Amino acid sequence: MTLLLTTPATPAEFEAYYRLRYEVLRQPWGQPAGSERADDDDEPTTLHAMLVAPAGRVAGVARLSPAGANQAQVRYMAVAPDFQGLGLGRQLLEHLEAQARQQGLTECVLHAREAAVPFYARLGYLVVAPSHTLFGSIPHFLMRKLL
Ligand SMILES: CC(C)(COP(=O)(O)OP(=O)(O)OC[C@H]1O[C@@H](n2cnc3c(N)ncnc32)[C@H](O)[C@@H]1OP(=O)(O)O)[C@@H](O)C(=O)NCCC(=O)NCCS
Repeated sequence: MTLLLTTPATPAEFEAYYRLRYEVLRQPWGQPAGSERADDDDEPTTLHAMLVAPAGRVAGVARLSPAGANQAQVRYMAVAPDFQGLGLGRQLLEHLEAQARQQGLTECVLHAREAAVPFYARLGYLVVAPSHTLFGSIPHFLMRKLL
């Protein structure tokens, strides 16, 4: 499937970008609208990426931000349920890793939901340690990859 890999730029694009983040990562756990936003989303160092299907539907989103010396962090990775398992997550993650490499960063970290650990492992990430539990029910694992 050919999707457009792009960066949200207009208010309407950002709205669609955050809507998918909310629908996949917050709404199923009864979290309020707005809970999908992070304080550093608007920082100039935060890179947003999304895959857009024909007719303008946002099918996948993810972001990259600085995390420490030589280190990038991927957060808020979400693929719409009917687009999962088609390679979109891989495309988004590899795109963000390439962006991090271009910035001279040598390592990428993330906190993976337990159900997503096999996906990140397939993309070359190793579990470092268990991390937080989100909404009292979703265990996370700190994972790391050398770029
Ligand atoms: C996790 C998620 C981002 C993965 O995106 P995706 O588009 O479904 O994954 P892809 O199709 O790109 O999969 C890439 C590879 O990982 C593998 N993979 C994906 N999910 C897997 C799983 N649960 N178990 C084992 N392998 C898996 C695929 O088989 C594929 O392998 P291949 O390249 O050898 O064929 C997506 O399923 C999602 O949004 N899930 C719900 C929200 C979520 O958990 N986000 C992550 C928060 S940390």
